[in-house]
Amino acid sequence: MTALDLSSPVAVVGTGTMGQGIAQVALVAGHPVRLYDAVPGRAQEAAAAIGARLDRLVTKDRLGAADRDAARARLTPADSLTELADCALVVEAVLERLDVKQQLFCELEEIVAEDCLLATNTSSLSVTAIGSALRNPGRFLGLHFFNPAPLLPLVEVVSGFATDVTSATRAYETARTWGKTPVACADTPGFIVNRIARPFYAEALAVYEAQAADPATIDAVLRESGGFRMGAFELTDLIGQDVNESVTHSVWQSFFQDVRFTPSLAQRRLVESGRLGRKSGHGWYDYAEGAERPEPHTAEKAQPPAYVVAEGNLGPAAELLTLIREAGIQVREEDEDHGTRLVLPSGGQLVLADGQTSVEFRDVVYFDLALDYRKATRIALSASQDSAPQTLAEATGLFQALGKDVSVIGDAPGMIVARTVARIVDLAHDAVAKGVATEEDIDTAMRLGVNYPLGPFEWSRRLGRGWAYDLLDDLHLRDPSGRYAPSLALYRHAYATDKREGTP
Ligand SMILES: NC(=O)c1ccc[n+]([C@@H]2O[C@H](COP(=O)([O-])OP(=O)(O)OC[C@H]3O[C@@H](n4cnc5c(N)ncnc54)[C@H](O)[C@@H]3O)[C@@H](O)[C@H]2O)c1
Repeated sequence: MTALDLSSPVAVVGTGTMGQGIAQVALVAGHPVRLYDAVPGRAQEAAAAIGARLDRLVTKDRLGAADRDAARARLTPADSLTELADCALVVEAVLERLDVKQQLFCELEEIVAEDCLLATNTSSLSVTAIGSALRNPGRFLGLHFFNPAPLLPLVEVVSGFATDVTSATRAYETARTWGKTPVACADTPGFIVNRIARPFYAEALAVYEAQAADPATIDAVLRESGGFRMGAFELTDLIGQDVNESVTHSVWQSFFQDVRFTPSLAQRRLVESGRLGRKSGHGWYDYAEGAERPEPHTAEKAQPPAYVVAEGNLGPAAELLTLIREAGIQVREEDEDHGTRLVLPSGGQLVLADGQTSVEFRDVVYFDLALDYRKATRIALSASQDSAPQTLAEATGLFQALGKDVSVIGDAPGMIVARTVARIVDLAHDAVAKGVATEEDIDTAMRLGVNYPLGPFEWSRRLGRGWAYDLLDDLHLRDPSGRYAPSLALYRHAYATDKREGTP
């Protein structure tokens, strides 16, 4: 099945933010494009706005003047839906309301040809439910673009229960000829990106609500240790707290209030108080002129230990041993398998974050997961309640000797990066098991849709099978609400490895 011919007209209905972006993409790809909006005059305004954006592309040398002129000539505002009769694809980007979208598609079905593809750009409604109003729902699907559509490459091609394979494939191939990176997914709440990304926000908010760290520290750790482009607080300030909360709320509701997606009370209060983020001048951070950005917690300089004793296999933190040696600190390796830990000269232990709380060990300092311990510029530490001050001082000095800033946080089992990544990995495995998308498409979607440094499956492979499962299993023991319960899919994944490695 091939993509739509570039000579086939494409219509965009609803010419707000998304409609304009999608129209520009189809137009620059080479299609004749029709614009229709329910508010009279808006399609004309949208055509003018798209024209102005094409001008800017010419100024920036990203589009030739002749191509701009040809594109403008292909762009036509329509005064009524009947003018879309000869279109081969209609993409809808109207109000996010089921009844409005259903009614629109029922009207369109009477106007366009039988083989015209009908697509919705909905973010949160069920594609199946919208299509259910149609006589022929087989040609109906979701084409979920991300904002700004001309810049962001990802498009989720969503098949509802009734969507036929040829329609989905044709839409997929068409998105590809438009220069986009399509991923195929089933019609489930949040599709791929908005479903699997939930823990990125939720876990940061949970660590904050548990009073274990402030937003600036959590953001700094997510960025500098986790390798995420932005921290969860600064990112939601950019997205808009109301917008981010409403996605969380919709996914949670659509999953019948599944506790894994429960919205945050802290974010609720922020939205209720009108602190919506950058657009309102204040969110987690203050954007007023001259307002100072709070600094993350950064520990004072401490003396590094003369040596460490490494016991067992440090797993995802194994590279630390090389870094410690390179810093001129002696590493004595012992074969005893007490778990994954470094013993400090004080006798205290340094342990990679697992799902335990800090009340369970006498003299332990936990350190957080890093995407890459060599490149990380900050590491979070968390001392157990009975740990000796000297243990935290030695742990701090050790990471500082490796060139890292150290943020000391309170008791948060699974710390910040470790629990976030473990939950993302779990939701990704769960999604594949439930037929939402393939591993490859999920990795692509999370890298392109939300800029993750690694796709969840790449991350999972790097961490080793069983790592995320064990962490979540521990967390679930301590918080049996179900929020951290590892999925059956993750269990299968972890168990399969154990068998292969011959461990009972
Ligand atoms: N904004 C985003 O970041 C984003 C991202 C992905 C998907 N979406 C989805 O895209 C859709 C549009 O979002 P938006 O942010 O562009 O909204 P918007 O408010 O900017 O634009 C909506 C446009 O639709 C028009 N409209 C409303 N009802 C109509 C109807 N019955 N027929 C024709 N036109 C109608 C309005 O006049 C308006 O111009 C929504 O379904 C939304 O969930 C939005």
